[in-house]
Amino acid sequence: MSMNYDEKIPNNVDLSTNKTLQRALEHWQPRFIDWWKELGPAVYQGNDIYLRTATSVDREGWATFGMVKMPEYRWGIFLAEQDQNRTIGFGDNMGQPVWNVIPGEHRSTLRRLIVTQGDTEPASVEQQRALGTSAPSLYDLRNLFQVNVEEGRHLWAMVYLLHAYFGRDGREEAEGLLERHSGDADKPRILTTFNEPINDWLSFYMFAYFTDRDGKFQLKALAESGFDPLARTCQFMLTEEAHHMFVGDSGIGRVVRRTVEVMNELRSEDPAKVRAAGAIDLHTIQKYMNFWFSSALDLFGSEVSSNAASYFANGLKGRPDESLYDDHVAGGEYTLEQPDGSGGVRTETVSMRNAMNEIMRAAYVRDCENGVKRWNKIIEKGGVKFELRLPSPRFRRTVGMWANVPTDPAGAPITQEAFAAGASSWIPTPEDQAFVASLMKPVLEPGKVASWIAPPERGINNLPADYEYVRVA
Ligand SMILES: [Fe+2]
Ligand SMILES: [Fe+2]
Repeated sequence: MSMNYDEKIPNNVDLSTNKTLQRALEHWQPRFIDWWKELGPAVYQGNDIYLRTATSVDREGWATFGMVKMPEYRWGIFLAEQDQNRTIGFGDNMGQPVWNVIPGEHRSTLRRLIVTQGDTEPASVEQQRALGTSAPSLYDLRNLFQVNVEEGRHLWAMVYLLHAYFGRDGREEAEGLLERHSGDADKPRILTTFNEPINDWLSFYMFAYFTDRDGKFQLKALAESGFDPLARTCQFMLTEEAHHMFVGDSGIGRVVRRTVEVMNELRSEDPAKVRAAGAIDLHTIQKYMNFWFSSALDLFGSEVSSNAASYFANGLKGRPDESLYDDHVAGGEYTLEQPDGSGGVRTETVSMRNAMNEIMRAAYVRDCENGVKRWNKIIEKGGVKFELRLPSPRFRRTVGMWANVPTDPAGAPITQEAFAAGASSWIPTPEDQAFVASLMKPVLEPGKVASWIAPPERGINNLPADYEYVRVA
């Protein structure tokens, strides 16, 4: 399936054969560009940046690299190839052909799923808009902008579905996606995490690792959908999403590497000395992990959810990597641990379908562990005795059965007082944040990096790490 780059909106959905849809999207496009200029990256909008743009959805050609000014990025509509024989892979409709029109009874649910996913995409761009002023290197600055333009394209992906399949209310929802803004008092973004500003690069890497990874799991679940255009859109988005997680994973790894280097230079494990030397002590990195991991866990929703059960039953949203499961009907049971209301823990068995959110969250936690292992290898190789650890999924939750139940990072229930007393050593304090903020000074010379992070191991697209990825001059 070829991509048409001659049109105003690049696409591989034969947009020109549907004039009404094409006009509607061409009408939305200038509003998107206005939003991008107003609430997208605060700096370097007019500079050349080494970005990749999708030019075909197959393995070879989906990433074409070149110097681009962000507002001129070719945001387009790209769906993975259609499989004519695809059938619904799970739930009560399993084995039936997938839908290419929206079944009336699932219309409002699908719209809600698409709007909620769509809302996170521009939200993250808004959250990150100030980061360009304090990039630790041109390489990192470029990666930030790559993530930002692709989140912009993910918004396009969802807006296309709304316009193409949901008629007037879809068009209204598409408008709404540009009207809500991250952190806006009157019209905030839908999900809480996406209303927190991200003003320092340690938070950015944590966000890209933990929060974008939630995105990966949501996209994987929607890529299983019986509504085929949604599934195909999400499949292609996942290709781009992989880079976002790489930015988080390698970013945290580089911060850890630099810290270990400084500890070895100083021959000291004293956090105060590490900080005085311009690096971020491991304990602070652990606190940022605790914060962003626990906040991402909330995005999966309540452990027991009848909504999640009906999404699964109806074939709207599957489990990530559904094909890896033996049983796609999920008629069994699932046992989970919940607070017993008096400071202890009890187990409860629920129907598997009602536990879909928890099953997804558990898969996400396992995926998160991989990066932590890599970062711990760096620490171990550096000869430092310290282990980064994901906190328990019970820790610091605001959604689900553990919401507002105080526990320590290992998940043991504790009193409110004990939590209040421990909080400053578990999650970033205003002092920690001020310290991290104090390090955020832009480094804009090709090949140079800030004091608190190690240089990247390699550049982008086989270019050297000291390539001028953003022409800042
Ligand atoms: Fe995205
Ligand atoms: Fe992303």
